[in-house]
Amino acid sequence: MKRREFLRDAAIVAATGGISTDVLSATLNSSPGMSETEGGQESGKASLIDSEPVLQNYAATSMGIAFSVTDWANGYAIFGEKPDLSDGRKVWCGGYRMTAMDNEVIQIRLTGLKPNTLYYYKIGADRIEYKDGYHIRIVGNEEKPQTYFFRTAGEGARSHFCVINDTHASWKAINPTINKLMALQPSCVVWNGDACNTEETVAAQKRIFFKPEIERKDFAAHIPYLFCPGNHDGRGLANRHLERIWMYRQPEERQPRDWDLGRNFAVRMGNIALVGLDTGEDKLDGNPKFCNLFVSEPYRVAQQTWLRDALRQPEIASAPYLVAFCHIPLYDPNPKENPGDVYPNDKDAKYTTDFAMWQRTCSKLWGPLLEEAGCQLLITAHQHCVRFDNPNNEHKWFQIVGGGPNMTGKTPGHFPTVIEGEIKNGKLVITVHNIYSGEVCGTVTFPVRF
Ligand SMILES: [Fe+2]
Repeated sequence: MKRREFLRDAAIVAATGGISTDVLSATLNSSPGMSETEGGQESGKASLIDSEPVLQNYAATSMGIAFSVTDWANGYAIFGEKPDLSDGRKVWCGGYRMTAMDNEVIQIRLTGLKPNTLYYYKIGADRIEYKDGYHIRIVGNEEKPQTYFFRTAGEGARSHFCVINDTHASWKAINPTINKLMALQPSCVVWNGDACNTEETVAAQKRIFFKPEIERKDFAAHIPYLFCPGNHDGRGLANRHLERIWMYRQPEERQPRDWDLGRNFAVRMGNIALVGLDTGEDKLDGNPKFCNLFVSEPYRVAQQTWLRDALRQPEIASAPYLVAFCHIPLYDPNPKENPGDVYPNDKDAKYTTDFAMWQRTCSKLWGPLLEEAGCQLLITAHQHCVRFDNPNNEHKWFQIVGGGPNMTGKTPGHFPTVIEGEIKNGKLVITVHNIYSGEVCGTVTFPVRF
């Protein structure tokens, strides 16, 4: 990061109270003239670490840190509560038994963290020369000079989130969208699906999640993200294993029965409970185009069981505000559109009169549970057109559909959005920012749910 950029960011962060001035001065003093990967980079070789860290899976007691590498690397993070990391602990990538040495992406899981606590961290990696199981050498080490930081979730955290969606690797839309997020500095961002198009290679995925062609490469180095996949995030050979890029959530967050549901989250952030669901593919599992390669239907059924329990967790049940997120809308005023409960849009399918199947759609499976729990707001995506759906006979929750990547300004409602949620004067205030025009295109206010 350039010194000028860092000063600007530091001013924003300091103003929001996210970091002490000690670490600012410490980092500033070490910045000028330093190479990005000082400490072991061999001449003639590309930097081993070629991205900023990305904070994945915002939670109260854990945090995922991922970054891109260019060669075989055994990555790690050093983290602690002191700005100079004098209390720092080193955590290697991967889990038990062996590290997740990799030549594309390093994924580190920090666990046993304290809720609503500011942590500082650095990232680094050993460059590994691996000939065979007995002939392994460390041939270099790189550590990013920057000290980064994050704050964990929890009841004491600041109640402030933002949502982006349907970014579709469109840099023209993503650049101002991310700039808006950096200005708003929320406690976390929900990436509500369709970050991808159809990604066949890991390189293409890395471009989207770690090396975006935007100004703020550090978009997720301090602000943690929550991820709700969209239908496009499962398309393409590489996306069949998106967990190589965006790790699954920690298994201890859910019962053993639900361990395979690695994308669902139920996170308490201040006075708001954030619940994430995965609507999966928008085509029927039986659609001949996809050759039985998707099993979204049992996945949605399994999420119903998870959701029922998640909504009863004490920290979720007691939250004054409950906001749910999923990519495909669960309601559409036009039944010919493509929300999660209407199949006729799947033009290749011939099973749309199957009543039992209708009973297993996202809306039927999850909608009543969200209503029963007093969910005030569902934030969705998918249609690339902003929409506000008031509660009606079919659903008690308010629904907001976020915009898409269109930056032409030609079609009403078709522009990128940042949906911001914040508690103000005892109410949840949702502000929808139009990223094309820079204006606010809607606000909705919610009282506490009980
Ligand atoms: Fe989309």
